[in-house]
Amino acid sequence: MKRREIIAALGAFTIGIKPVRGAKPDRIKPQVGDVLVHAFGEKAGVVIQSDDIETDRVFAFPMSPEGVVRRGSLHNQVTLLRLDESLMSVKTKRHAAGPILAVSAACTHTGCEVSGWEPETNELVCPCHGSRFDVLDASRVLLGPAAKPLALLPIANIEGSFQVTGKFSRRVGPEPAF
Ligand code: FES
Repeated sequence: MKRREIIAALGAFTIGIKPVRGAKPDRIKPQVGDVLVHAFGEKAGVVIQSDDIETDRVFAFPMSPEGVVRRGSLHNQVTLLRLDESLMSVKTKRHAAGPILAVSAACTHTGCEVSGWEPETNELVCPCHGSRFDVLDASRVLLGPAAKPLALLPIANIEGSFQVTGKFSRRVGPEPAF
C-alpha cells in the first residue's frame, strides 16, 4: 500500500474513534495513527521496528502523535508476534501487518497479563489460571477457564514501524460482572 493510500485509510478510521472525554491521555484506548513502542526494559518508549520482533514476542503500548505513551492501563498493552502468514486464519490476517500480529495482553478471564508464549504451538498462555489462546486463529480459546478470545489490534507497517489502524476486534479483558 502506498503511503498516501495508507494516510487516507487511516483518516477514514479516525471518524469512528473518539477519545473518552475526561480520560487521562495515557489511559485512553489505542487511537488510529498511534505508533507502537516498547513497553518495558531499556527500550521502553522507543518505537518498535519490524526487526525487533523475531522469535520472541515483544510487549508494546501505543504512543500518540504527540508522544503520549498510553501505559496507564493494561487494557492498552499488546503482545507483538511474528507468525507464519500462510497459517493465519482470514480474521487474523485482516488484523495483521503481514507476519506481525498485535494481541491484547489482558486476559478475558479475570484480566491478568497474558505473558506466556509458546512459539512451537503459536499459543499465548495466561499464568494466572492457565488459559491458552491460538493466535493463528484470531486468538480463540484452546483451554479455559477463559471463555472469550483475546482482542486483536489492527495495525499497518508504515515504513518499518507499526501504526494502529482501528479499534480492538472485541472487548478487551473480562466481560463485566452483572
Ligand atoms: S486471568 Fe487468565 S486464565 Fe484466569
